[in-house]
Amino acid sequence: MKRLLIVFHAPSENTQKMLNAMKQAVSRAGLKQVECVIKAPLQTQPQDVLDCDAIILGTPENLGYMSGALKDFFDRSYYPCLEEKQGLPVAAVVRAGQDGTGTCRALTTILTGLKWRWVQEIVVCKGPWQESFVQDCQDLAEAMAVALDEGMI
Ligand SMILES: Cc1cc2nc3c(=O)[nH]c(=O)nc-3n(C[C@H](O)[C@H](O)[C@H](O)COP(=O)(O)O)c2cc1C
Repeated sequence: MKRLLIVFHAPSENTQKMLNAMKQAVSRAGLKQVECVIKAPLQTQPQDVLDCDAIILGTPENLGYMSGALKDFFDRSYYPCLEEKQGLPVAAVVRAGQDGTGTCRALTTILTGLKWRWVQEIVVCKGPWQESFVQDCQDLAEAMAVALDEGMI
């Protein structure tokens, strides 16, 4: 089995909806060779990354940056994963009240350092809440899971 890891900091009702949308999309995708593990960043250990074959990150933008919880995940995982996980397929979703650019820039910088491999553009769910964000999250997670299942990434 291959493993898809979702690391999502979801402190609000809306970010929980986004995470649930991903969970449902993956479970409905009829995957044959992929299991999905979902963790909050503070509960995610470097070993979880070492054990996965693709990763989806989710965070709100707070104060122009990713959440402190997701940053803590990177602080703890960077060096333990640096050598072994180069090329890890990654996608990300950002929930931003107004902006999102600081978080996208930070994620891009960190993941350039880690040499993980973007397989989709970062999805930024920006502005007042829209129910279409749920579909955006479903699409992102389904595409990632199916691509992993079919050996495309
Ligand atoms: C302390 C704090 C700082 C925030 N900073 C930003 C920010 O820099 N840029 C932005 O676009 N949104 C910012 N927001 C809005 C959050 O991104 C938004 O509240 C979060 O994504 C949750 O949205 P939701 O209530 O629709 O789930 C901030 C929110 C809080 C509480």
